Amino acid sequence: LSDREDESTGRPGAPRFFGRRHGKKLRTSQRQTLDEGLPRLRIAAPERIFDPRSLFDFPVEQVWLEIGFGGGEHLAAQAAANPQVGLIGSEVFVNGIASLLRHVASRAVGNVRLWPDDVRQLLPFVAEASVARVFLLFPDPWPKQRHAERRFVGAANLDALARVMMDGAELRVASDDANYIAWSLEQLRAHPDFAERQDPPGVSDQPPDDWFATRYEQKARKVGRPCQYLRFWRTARSKAKSA
Ligand SMILES: C[S@@+](CC[C@H](N)C(=O)[O-])C[C@H]1O[C@@H](n2cnc3c(N)ncnc32)[C@H](O)[C@@H]1O
Repeated sequence: LSDREDESTGRPGAPRFFGRRHGKKLRTSQRQTLDEGLPRLRIAAPERIFDPRSLFDFPVEQVWLEIGFGGGEHLAAQAAANPQVGLIGSEVFVNGIASLLRHVASRAVGNVRLWPDDVRQLLPFVAEASVARVFLLFPDPWPKQRHAERRFVGAANLDALARVMMDGAELRVASDDANYIAWSLEQLRAHPDFAERQDPPGVSDQPPDDWFATRYEQKARKVGRPCQYLRFWRTARSKAKSA
């Protein structure tokens, strides 16, 4: 990946991405981390549907996916805490990808694979019912109503997630934006493939016990912005539908 050019896989018909791909020019050491680390962990642009367990060089018990991992603090910490799980991280921001690679190297974890691009280009190739947990942490809030279609949580992306998630798989969404939380709750409660539980509750101001703070979360807490955490579960597929 260049820190100057847009090197999206640019599949024909790929959805338009509205966020930032590049930040500050990478320092030489970051460039080196990217050049050396990315080829080892990068998921090659898929040609056909694949089982994500096949990405790992040992038999993983489950596959988890983090969308928009930012600096990668949470992803690397989850990978270190759950060595039996294979984690896929997706992020378009080159500086964030370099940061994750640094965390992965310093923790010496071998259970992370990277999709350095828009996750919406990966999801259609991921086998149905193959992912056990999805993290969407502090997604870009797109607060203006006229930008609501850019919010990641929406019917089309929830359909795509529901397809790859196994029955009973967990979706975690967190945000410090009260409107985004209200919006996400509305979308998730309206979606037939997701359900909340009483315990743990669908929405809470406390993160799950096995949580690692993300960079955005730390920034929000520092300035006193309360964060909220959503936990929803993929409902069971009906036998007739999955047969
Ligand atoms: C507000 S940041 C939060 C980063 C991190 N999760 C955190 O909490 O610190 C949202 C991130 O999501 C990434 N992102 C947005 N849409 C994405 C998509 N469709 N696929 C992959 N990453 C995406 C953006 O590039 C950005 O880095």
